[in-house]
Amino acid sequence: MRVRRCDGLKGEVRVSGAKNAALPLLAASLLVERFELENFPVLLDTLYALRILELLGREVELLPGRVSVKGGISSVRIPYEISSLFRGSLLFLGGLLGAVGRAEVAHPGGCAIGSRPIDQHLKFLSHIGAEVELEGGFVKVKLPPEPKARAFTFDLITVTGTENALLTLAGLRGEFELHNAALEPEVLDLVEFLKKLGLEVEVKGRSFLVRSPGRENLKREVSHRTIPDRIEAGTFLVAGALLGEPLTVKGLEVSHLGAVLEKLREAGAEPEVLSPSEVRIRRVERPRALEVQTAPYPGFPTDMQAQFMAMLTLADGVSLIVENIFENRFQHALELARLGASVEVRGKTAIVRGVERLKGAPVNATDLRASAALVLAGLVAEGETVVGKIGHLLRGYEDLDGKLRRLGCDAELF
Ligand code: EPZ
Repeated sequence: MRVRRCDGLKGEVRVSGAKNAALPLLAASLLVERFELENFPVLLDTLYALRILELLGREVELLPGRVSVKGGISSVRIPYEISSLFRGSLLFLGGLLGAVGRAEVAHPGGCAIGSRPIDQHLKFLSHIGAEVELEGGFVKVKLPPEPKARAFTFDLITVTGTENALLTLAGLRGEFELHNAALEPEVLDLVEFLKKLGLEVEVKGRSFLVRSPGRENLKREVSHRTIPDRIEAGTFLVAGALLGEPLTVKGLEVSHLGAVLEKLREAGAEPEVLSPSEVRIRRVERPRALEVQTAPYPGFPTDMQAQFMAMLTLADGVSLIVENIFENRFQHALELARLGASVEVRGKTAIVRGVERLKGAPVNATDLRASAALVLAGLVAEGETVVGKIGHLLRGYEDLDGKLRRLGCDAELF
């Protein structure tokens, strides 16, 4: 994508449905015969997920802004060619286990931000008595008719680990306690969906008390609406802190953005909450330097770390960014340095020394959120910036170039 220095972002932008909510919901659609999902984000990852559903035998119909899925399941095997394209493919392990009690999913593998092991996913399954076999890069799982245990505690907080456990439990009759669970809004949106199918789920702190009627007693038809994408919303709010004249971000969920709004205020931007779904933000002359620590929700999201680093490269002072979730999520620092940023990475800490200005240059995206950070930096850098390997961006942002052009910027995808 080519971006030129942008004088200002003026007007309003509406965020799309959340990719990381749509993916578990598409996996959960295996539990029902007929499924409708509104506010569906059309992105590479969600299109890959629809392809997986078709490979499993489902009929998929993609309509403007929504998708419908129906029909039976004729396969439980997800080939490496598609599961390796996106991490969200792992969620179809839980979807298949909940729906039919068996699954063969090629291990999606790691990506740029880390090795991303799945030990917690497998530990849960072994704990409930599933037969788990790792063979030729495939995870083959067969559930017992009844779980061998009625409680499990994750060793660490894992979003898709929690989601896979919930999807699996949806098919197993009876009560179950999940402890040390992830509480991301996308996880809780999946819980709301499963309640529509007939599950009872009580959330107490990081514990989920789940009671399922069993897969044969779940509701057959259900519709749902994807929650707004809090990371896309956060990305535009950072853009507004840099260039807003002002920028109004609509269709978001303010209650999902507490930590992000707090950090923007600390940086000197003054986001105005106009309603529970609308925030207006103006550019701040020079952001104040910050300390940012990524943490599981409701802490500061790791998926917003790169975007904040882009903003802090121009801050008045030295900022510290500590990445506590992934072991290798600072690759955008090297690319930002090509634009003139001063970032020093020491283990899980990045030291960002604010500079007066950035200068456009060709850079390469390394992962989804890094690509967004480079686009933000390109909008404030002098001259022209070309972000290469932009495929990463297309995985998680719907029509970002179009949205930026409509706000008065010169951004062109090629
Ligand atoms: C989800 O990934 C999101 N993806 C990620 O968003 C997000 O960055 C991440 O959660 C953290 O919020 C989807 O929801 C599809 P984790 P996930 O399991 O579930 C370690 C994006 O940009 N871990 O919560 O894979 C893991 O290595 C993507 O949209 C284990 O060690 O993340 C990581 O260090 C990027 N063993 C930490 O836990 C396991 O079995 C958190 O990972 C599982 C995870």
